[in-house]
Amino acid sequence: MRKLVIAIDGPAGSGKSSTARSVAKTLGYRYLDTGAMYRAVALKMLEQGVEPQDSRGIEELLREIRLEQKEESGKTRILLDGKDVTDAIRTPEISLWVGPVSENPTVREFLVRLQREMGKKGGVVVEGRDIGTVVFPDASLKIYLIADLGERARRRVRDLHGQGIVQTEEEVREALAKRDERDSTRNHSPLQAAAGAIVVDTTDLTLEGQVEKIVSLAREREKPQKLKKNP
Ligand code: DC
Repeated sequence: MRKLVIAIDGPAGSGKSSTARSVAKTLGYRYLDTGAMYRAVALKMLEQGVEPQDSRGIEELLREIRLEQKEESGKTRILLDGKDVTDAIRTPEISLWVGPVSENPTVREFLVRLQREMGKKGGVVVEGRDIGTVVFPDASLKIYLIADLGERARRRVRDLHGQGIVQTEEEVREALAKRDERDSTRNHSPLQAAAGAIVVDTTDLTLEGQVEKIVSLAREREKPQKLKKNP
């Protein structure tokens, strides 16, 4: 059985995190949340007063940074320099700040290298914006998740509510639309479906439905591939 790299990309609120985590669990794979890595870098920059344009300051900050992800009682915990920042990286402030941070080429190169290192042995579901296009262009299975803006806003409001943060659907909708625009028009690794990616629209799918679909595609590709005979 081959251990695959599964790339899941898509805009904010398309269901990437819950889908990727659940696909990983079902297949017995590791799960890697690359958005959390950008958020943790953004948090550290905010705490240390390093601006997104300050490439020198960023280089220095990255030299010392330690990023870890671990699963604990069904929840994904993010550690920054040994400290649990799982909730601290999900605030609306960080969601705003992470946009310009993720556009910085020094940050991207650093995190792409780290992500390749973390996923190189396979048996991993990697979720983000540029996984199928840049980080693992040879991934055995590439998924591009989409959902309409209203549905994504409703999901995000629910997630925030779970963390005790109250925002209206309208506010979240506006912030998501801005982030979509920013993520898909930036110069460096813009958000787009990778060549060969399978597009899954989750607007009317249940979580179970989307997980099942991806797991069955993965199981098919885990089987040893037959070599094509020359005609
Ligand atoms: O998925 P998320 O909302 O946690 O991502 C946070 C930000 O990081 C988002 O603005 C896009 C950026 N990001 C990125 O540029 N590349 C990735 N592979 C993952 C996230």
